[in-house]
Amino acid sequence: MFLIAQDEEGDGGGMSDLQVRDEVMTIFLAGHETVANALTWTFYFLSQNQDVERKLHEEPDFVLGNRLPTFEDLEQLNYTRMLLTESMRIYPPVWSTARRAINDYMVLNYDVPARSAIFFCQYIIHRDPRFYPDTLDFKPGRWTPKQENSLRQYSYFPIGGGPRRCIGEQFAWMEGILVIATIASKWKFRLVPGHKVDIKPMITLRPKHGMNMIIVKR
Ligand code: HEM
Repeated sequence: MFLIAQDEEGDGGGMSDLQVRDEVMTIFLAGHETVANALTWTFYFLSQNQDVERKLHEEPDFVLGNRLPTFEDLEQLNYTRMLLTESMRIYPPVWSTARRAINDYMVLNYDVPARSAIFFCQYIIHRDPRFYPDTLDFKPGRWTPKQENSLRQYSYFPIGGGPRRCIGEQFAWMEGILVIATIASKWKFRLVPGHKVDIKPMITLRPKHGMNMIIVKR
């Protein structure tokens, strides 16, 4: 698609090789690795929290019966959405974002001189006990619509915020929820005994040693 794309509103030209390469890199990093990490951590949490796993299994069984989920099912897959929300709270795939101040700027009592880099760290904010009691406990149940609405702005921002907020946000939620529901309708993942789990914070938050799982038919 990138190779045949034409600038229909402009000069009708295609992309240069460099542009195609840059777009491919963006899709791999922003669109693929983020969701892949979110799913990896979610299935890790499921393997460690069997009450949550049982509750998840009730949902696709109830909503989908014996068929695969489709776009139309999304609104009913509420627990799956809460699960993914909680997973991206504790292990946000984009764990830190940054901006550069164009001009001198003041935030509360802090002077931010022009050209300074300012970092916003999802990994830290999402684990702040002021916003999330029992902050390291994996509790999808905390994401009821009521509790979500009462959250302070930017206490949860896995997909960023402002004008450069993730452009793939809706697609990411759709993809994540449908993949979890599809897999969970037939399979369980179990961590290989003794496998070490730790984080590797690169641009995205990867599992340091990979995530070795045994796939079990339900
Ligand atoms: C769980 C999955 C995802 C997460 C956690 C995520 C997170 C983010 C975050 C935090 C930003 C803002 C970065 C900043 O403010 O500096 C961002 C931007 C972006 N995301 Fe996502 N993203 C996800 C999925 C996707 C998908 C599926 C796509 C494309 C298909 C995508 C494409 C992009 C692009 C192109 C930008 C840059 C937007 C701009 O600068 O205007 N993302 N993403």
